[in-house]
Amino acid sequence: MKLLITGGAGFIGSALIRYLIEHTDDTVVNVDKLTYAGNLESLLEVSDNPRYSFVQIDICERAALDQVFTTHQPDAVMHLAAASHVDRSIDGPAEFIQTNIVGTYTMLEAARAYWNTLPEPRKIAFRFHHISTDEVYGDLPHPNDEPVDCHVAPLLAETRCDTANEAPIIANEAPVIASTPPIIASTPSVIASAAKQSTEQTATATPRSDVLPLFTEETSYAPSSPYSASKASSDHLVRAWLRTYGFPTLITNCSNNYGPYQFPEKLIPLVILNALAGKLLPIYGAGDQIRDWLYVEDHVRALYTVLIQGTVGATYNIGGHNEKRNIEVVEAICAILDELVPRISVKADDISQPAVGLKTDLQEQSPHARIVDLKTNLQEQSISAQVGSYKDLITYVADRPGHDRRYAIDASKIQHELGWTPAETFASGLRKTVQWYLDNHVWCQRVQDGSYQAQRLGITT
Ligand SMILES: NC(=O)c1ccc[n+]([C@@H]2O[C@H](COP(=O)([O-])OP(=O)(O)OC[C@H]3O[C@@H](n4cnc5c(N)ncnc54)[C@H](O)[C@@H]3O)[C@@H](O)[C@H]2O)c1
Repeated sequence: MKLLITGGAGFIGSALIRYLIEHTDDTVVNVDKLTYAGNLESLLEVSDNPRYSFVQIDICERAALDQVFTTHQPDAVMHLAAASHVDRSIDGPAEFIQTNIVGTYTMLEAARAYWNTLPEPRKIAFRFHHISTDEVYGDLPHPNDEPVDCHVAPLLAETRCDTANEAPIIANEAPVIASTPPIIASTPSVIASAAKQSTEQTATATPRSDVLPLFTEETSYAPSSPYSASKASSDHLVRAWLRTYGFPTLITNCSNNYGPYQFPEKLIPLVILNALAGKLLPIYGAGDQIRDWLYVEDHVRALYTVLIQGTVGATYNIGGHNEKRNIEVVEAICAILDELVPRISVKADDISQPAVGLKTDLQEQSPHARIVDLKTNLQEQSISAQVGSYKDLITYVADRPGHDRRYAIDASKIQHELGWTPAETFASGLRKTVQWYLDNHVWCQRVQDGSYQAQRLGITT
């Protein structure tokens, strides 16, 4: 099978291409504009493979897309190219409207024109798989929420009971914290001390996915950010092309991904790299936002399963059954780093032995070279003479405007219909991820040398 993959130089797209080249006989053409988020170094292990090729174009350029379809004659499209960072969408929504809506429209039209030229058997077998996010559904009730009576609180009921009303919140089972930021209008002015206090109060509350609702494929769309609204729009376009033109589409909506090669503006790599650099670890608001984390390699297996076995026109939710508060995620990363790369109590000048986990690619070098490089590494990362836990670096910052409080996926459809389940637990996936960032600091340095300077985005003015 010949696959046209858009956004293949990004985090998930590159994982998908590495998976396809390693585990299938498929041929892949990667179409990517190479924005700040696209990095061909994530594809080094497949770049010489004769089944892989790359074309640098913008998915909004119709003529260039037509040329790619004519040249490569794909059997299916997997459309991942997107502007994907919520904070960036708050600072500059135009790029999100252009890439995610206009770009998806342009992809649909170019693919449909090509599809119409195919002989009947290839036309029937053709698929356009649109990769989307669970953020299109808005947010879900949170364990900290006040219980909602849908009959006496119609405004709240519209927001909370409409989208997923299968399971009501059971007030006695979830602690109610008075100072918790309101679910509908998270305020950007949450101050650090209040946020910290709230976190301390809620630290023992665990997500109750057994009693709180989950996103299903039938959940109504209620996007909160320019990013999620643009992705929701693109999902609607894809469904319209199915219904209007009989164009054979598939949609998947996935929860938060994490794993190797993720650009360090997203929570997990940002925390790992900031911690290693001895920088503060920013937590938005109270840090009690809940996300359902999925290891990226589980996601790409799910995507391929849907492409091969999914029912034309169907939507599949993909999730990891890993509901975690952001603060829990950050503390888990700190605990792994404390174990693998303890914040040492000696200065760089005193080092005679490399620390476990640092620059493991240096192990082939002479002891002297290793020590010199380790000192440089420590100085670069500013971690010499630092003691204590990485948790000491945690700091609370103003929340993101409109920040969704809880996402959680019901992935039972893909599990029952297509037999997919995640292989990694959050503990195993997170440990692999931290180790990958420790082993691949050159990749990290290079992506950080680019336009991204780890600045705080998405605060609005
Ligand atoms: N990361 C997640 O947690 C997550 C979760 C669910 C769904 N998704 C969706 O999966 C897809 C991939 O996400 P990601 O995290 O890998 O994103 P990413 O930002 O890492 O990668 C996006 C890729 O798209 C490319 N791109 C951007 N604009 C383009 C354009 N106009 N033309 C061509 N290429 C362009 C970039 O160069 C980059 O390689 C997105 O559609 C996203 O909405 C992501």
